Order: sequence, then structure tokens, then C-alpha cells
Amino acid sequence: MPKLAALGGTPVAENGIRIEWPEIGPKEREAVLATLERREWCRLWSAEDSEASKFEREWARYHDARHCVAVANGTVALMCAFRALGVWHGDEVIVPSVTFVATADAVGLCGAIPVFVDVDPDTYQIDPAAAESAITDRTKAICVVHYAGYPADLDRLKELSDRTGLPVVEDCAHAHGTEWRGRKVGAHITLGCFSFQQSKSLTAGEGGAVITDSQDLADRVWAIHNVGRTRDAARYTHSSLGGNFRMSEWEATILRCQMVRLQEQTERRMRSAELIAEGLAQIDGLSLLKPDSRITQRGFYFLIIRYDATKWDGIHRDVFLRALQAEGIPCGTAYGWPVYKNPSYASGGVPHRVMDCPNAERITAEEQIATWNHLLLHVRNAILLVEACAKIRENIDELRRLAQG
Ligand SMILES: Cc1ncc(COP(=O)(O)O)c(C=O)c1O
Repeated sequence: MPKLAALGGTPVAENGIRIEWPEIGPKEREAVLATLERREWCRLWSAEDSEASKFEREWARYHDARHCVAVANGTVALMCAFRALGVWHGDEVIVPSVTFVATADAVGLCGAIPVFVDVDPDTYQIDPAAAESAITDRTKAICVVHYAGYPADLDRLKELSDRTGLPVVEDCAHAHGTEWRGRKVGAHITLGCFSFQQSKSLTAGEGGAVITDSQDLADRVWAIHNVGRTRDAARYTHSSLGGNFRMSEWEATILRCQMVRLQEQTERRMRSAELIAEGLAQIDGLSLLKPDSRITQRGFYFLIIRYDATKWDGIHRDVFLRALQAEGIPCGTAYGWPVYKNPSYASGGVPHRVMDCPNAERITAEEQIATWNHLLLHVRNAILLVEACAKIRENIDELRRLAQG
């Protein structure tokens, strides 16, 4: 009788993995009803007592940032940030190759050209040296992604920004709660952008935000997100090019309730990640992204497991992945390939440039395994994940059989 579930054995997570996301309670129900009764479901001007304005103050405070503008989603948060920096037709914005497509698409939607650069092999984050080597006289900004919730090297990026004068946008769509040297990521350099889409560690189903310490940039983002109105504009006076990229009062209401849960949820996820780190340390050929003492708190979108085929008799990552999924563990290859391999880019349809990206190519094709932040909310899921990995290791002969088909 085979042991591996992929060959007909009993799955480790036979009774399923517990996933309940988002977590809700009476506070959310009461708050949504209160918004319903208020009959103000859209924040058009900077009404101090609107849910959107309250959320902005709370989200800014959480990041020790001076300003926050709540917007409709993470993609338009990035677009507003780029437009506030003056990114326009023909400009270039440097982006990492390993991220969700929206990071680069937001550049293209401004009429500019994303320039894809390589990532660090141990952290999967944008390689500052690769970013520097991609700078041309058309470069308008560098966009870094705290991919999976692991922070990019903000020390080196700040130094690069100071030296070159290029602004840095932090795409924090994966990094709610992540801290670098004791401060939440987002406003460390120029601007930071968040997504609150359903799968994120803080969600209202949809939603986004831009944070910054700069009054001038915050005012520009405000105008862009509100059809070009300044904060105190008369109703139909539009001073710059903008759109309706506003967050609804419903979303702000939910976010304010969910935010109260974020710290405790982050701690639960970190506890699960610690257990997984301890467990994987006993299993040859599996590891997590490199520990770094400057990361004082870790938020999660993905938990990344690095698979080293040389320690698994050359068996490909995808065979291991199939075996892990069969054990009942929800996991995958994250976005599967570097962004520029998507048909939108590879077909030549969207203008872009690609620098040499050997790490991004290898990581996505052979090494990266990702599971999701919601799984980490329950320690039992983390234990099952480690048990499943250990079981596959103990039955490597069966894994080989699986590889041979
Ligand atoms: C890294 C990254 N950036 C930007 C976005 C865009 O956010 P949204 O889906 O809210 O537009 C996402 C969304 O998944 C993301 O993962």
C-alpha cells in the first residue's frame, strides 16, 4: 500500500485544512448597519467624520506616516502614486520581475514603460544592484514590491534613492504588518501602496491606499483619485487630470473593523511561520526565505518554501508540489513565471524592457512553492504542512515513482 496520497495513500490533511477568511464578528455587523443608516455611502470631499477619512488617519498612524489617501484598489493606488510622481508617456519605471502583474500594469496604464529587473536569490526581493544597472535618463521611479510580505532591502534602496534622486514606490500589497527596523513598511522612502482585495491580509473585498510623509505628494494623490479636485475645491472645479478612484464608505467601514484584528492575526501567522521554519530545518532540501534581523515583524501574503532539487535526487519541484497538494495542503507556484512571460508582455503588446533575470527565471521554474496567509492563521495547519513535507521526504522512493509517471 503506497504511503503518498498522490499514489493512493491517506492524505496527511485527511480532514481538511481550516481556512476561514476574512474573520468577522458582531463589530463588523454593527458597523455596516451604522453606515447603512447614515446614508452617506461615498466620501466625495475630505469630510473629517467619513469612514474613509477615519480609516486614512488610522492607517497613516499604524505606519507612522503623515498622510494616507484611501482609494479603490491596489492597482489604482500604484497608478495614483506614479502619476503623483509625474510618471507619463515614454517614462520608465523599474519593477521586479517576480510580482503580481498589477505592479507592472500600473506603469503601463500611465503610458510609461515597466523595466523588469532581477531579484535576490535568497530573499526573492528586487536586487538593488540590478535596479541601479537598469537606470537610464528616462527612468522616473523605482517600484519595489515587498513580495510575499518579506521586505525588500530598504537600507540599500533608500541609499540608491538618495544617491540618484529617484523616488521609490513601495508596493505593499503583500506586506500588511511587515516591519523594517521597527517601522511598518510603506513610507520608508517616498510613497507606499496597499491593496485590500479579498485575498490580502487586511481586506474589505476590494480597496487600496497610498501612504507618504510628503504633504505635496498626498495632495497630488488626493486630486488624482478624486477627478482632479483639490481637497477644498468647489464641486465642479477640476484642477488636474484625475479619475474616480475613490474607496466607498462600505469598504472603509469594514477596513476599520478588520484593522483592529490585524496585529493579533499577524502574530498568529508569525507563530505558524516559526513552527514551519523549525519543522523544515529538519528536512533536507526545503527552506524558507533568508532570516534577517532587520525584519522586526513579518506580514504575509505567501509563505514561500524553497525547494532544492539537488537534495531530492534531481526530482523536479513540480512533482514534489503535486505530492504536497495530494496530501491536502493548499499550495502552488505563486504567480508561476516572471511577469514579462505573460502573453500581454511576451506578445509584445505592452511596451516594456527586460533586463537579464536569471534568478527570477530559476526561482519561478524550479524553486518557489507558495502557500497562503490564511492557512497560517491556524497553527494546526502549519503542523500539517510540516508533517506532509516530512512524509514526502521519508517516502522519496515513491516520489521518484511519481516523477517517472
Ligand atoms: C503585488 C501586488 N501589487 C498590486 C496588486 C493590485 O491590487 P488590486 O488587486 O487591489 O488592484 C496586487 C493584487 O493582488 C498585488 O499582489
